[in-house]
Amino acid sequence: MPQNLRSIASLCLMAIASCIFVPASLRAEELPALISHDGHFQFQVDGKPYLILGVQINNSSTWLSALPNVWRVVDTLPINTVEAPVYWEQIEPRQGQFDFATVDALITQAREHRMHLILCWFGTWKNGQMHYAPEWVKTDTKTYPRMMNEAGQPIDVLSASSDNSLHADIAAYTALMKHLKQIDGQQHTVIMMQVENEPGSIGAIRDHSAAADAQFAKGVPAELAHALGKSGSWHDAFGAEADEAFQAYSVAKYIDKVSNAGKQVMALPTYVNVWQRYPFADRIPGSDYPSGGATSNMLDLWKATAHTIDAYAPDMYSDDVGTQRKIIENYGRPDNPVWICESADNEKYAQLFYMAMGHGAIGLATFGVDLTDWNMQKLDQVEWLRQNFAAMLPMEEQLATWAYAGHIQTSVETLGSTRQVLDFGRWNAVATYGTYRADHRTEQPSGTEKHQGRLLVAQVSPDEFVVTGADASVSFQLGSKGNGHAQILRVEEGRYEKGEWVPLRIWNGDQTDFGMRFRHSPVVLKVKMGTY
Ligand code: DGJ
Repeated sequence: MPQNLRSIASLCLMAIASCIFVPASLRAEELPALISHDGHFQFQVDGKPYLILGVQINNSSTWLSALPNVWRVVDTLPINTVEAPVYWEQIEPRQGQFDFATVDALITQAREHRMHLILCWFGTWKNGQMHYAPEWVKTDTKTYPRMMNEAGQPIDVLSASSDNSLHADIAAYTALMKHLKQIDGQQHTVIMMQVENEPGSIGAIRDHSAAADAQFAKGVPAELAHALGKSGSWHDAFGAEADEAFQAYSVAKYIDKVSNAGKQVMALPTYVNVWQRYPFADRIPGSDYPSGGATSNMLDLWKATAHTIDAYAPDMYSDDVGTQRKIIENYGRPDNPVWICESADNEKYAQLFYMAMGHGAIGLATFGVDLTDWNMQKLDQVEWLRQNFAAMLPMEEQLATWAYAGHIQTSVETLGSTRQVLDFGRWNAVATYGTYRADHRTEQPSGTEKHQGRLLVAQVSPDEFVVTGADASVSFQLGSKGNGHAQILRVEEGRYEKGEWVPLRIWNGDQTDFGMRFRHSPVVLKVKMGTY
């Protein structure tokens, strides 16, 4: 064997050996992480790209009596992650006395069912209120003061200006993280933490307690003023949004301290989920949505304040595609990944995942997916989700890799927009929805019955694409940077298995001559184009 080939061969052997023989203790040190470059993001578990294909269980489902009804549905779904709440009132029923029996059961059962977990800390805030604080917090308003509204009345929200509440929350959250480190520090069943739930306040735009008023009177803190290029009083700096901005700063500061304290114990990535203000304008904070959450108008402020939070994740409860797209754009920023940590559970959300993937999403989870007699009554209620994720799950690692490289584009059908062009430079992927003749290029396709067509195209080499979709057709044409006459060289239907493409059959003739047509259940195609 020539010298250079011998050294390549020995390098390859070393690389293979290092994959096989990395001691478990070393791999375990690689905590799940969110990495980024040039505005692209990738979530990693055990050092590998990981696309979160998940569901969140109902609010009262992390209980021993309810968990069997969680697994009954989870076992039927092509997903890799379950988001589950952990309740302050459950783990610390008496101050300083912790009970992790249910958390332990959740983790053990998740392992048995081969699921990763994201834990949602229901602590000081849950949907802009304080309903998950333990009884000893709820009943001791002197030690754990409430927010005051403008009329000086206490409301159902803990004051973010109280050190006692902050320290109590930190004590509980860090106890949870210590416990996780003990029981899961090596295995990483839990891959990410949501710190609080839809934080902010319902019932007042800002806290008018004496402590909060004193802070408000001091004006915008130097650190924030500097970061946002503002100065003076809250009114000088934020005008009509002064109260909301003050509330956002107080909540962001508080949550950052909770997140940071947890990371000192075990540095799992953290995120904050956000109750959206729909449809963006003329909404009243503290009433239409929790005031002080990381809504799009407060996102810069949160970014400048809460430095240990890795991501801000919108909760998606609008079935309007335009609104969904706007929310994705608001949160998919060079400094924030698209991470849809909650969305509603009906078919109208079928296109959301595709749209998010077009923005390089790190994942999506659908809310309320268990059989505890709440949102979901029947397993077939989430058939659309099953169809979406079934094609994606076997290639989640590839999708995460392509998304990070910026190689994925998606198209979703909307009323009146039934032909869309995805521009890959040398090639255009032309998505069409409904019936038409592909050779009549100007004719507008009819649209599908439910207007839910969706398509995902990943460019895996200059002339090769991996495509999946539902209720859609795609054809590849030479793009602005292409020359000659286009021809299909090969279209394979197949799937990824353990990272390798496994072809099942070749599509040709009626299946490709007028575009490659995806029916209701997504399949995966690998398309090789060429010219003559
Ligand atoms: C968003 C919240 O984050 C969830 O916990 C849940 O309350 C849903 N809204 C509504 O079911």
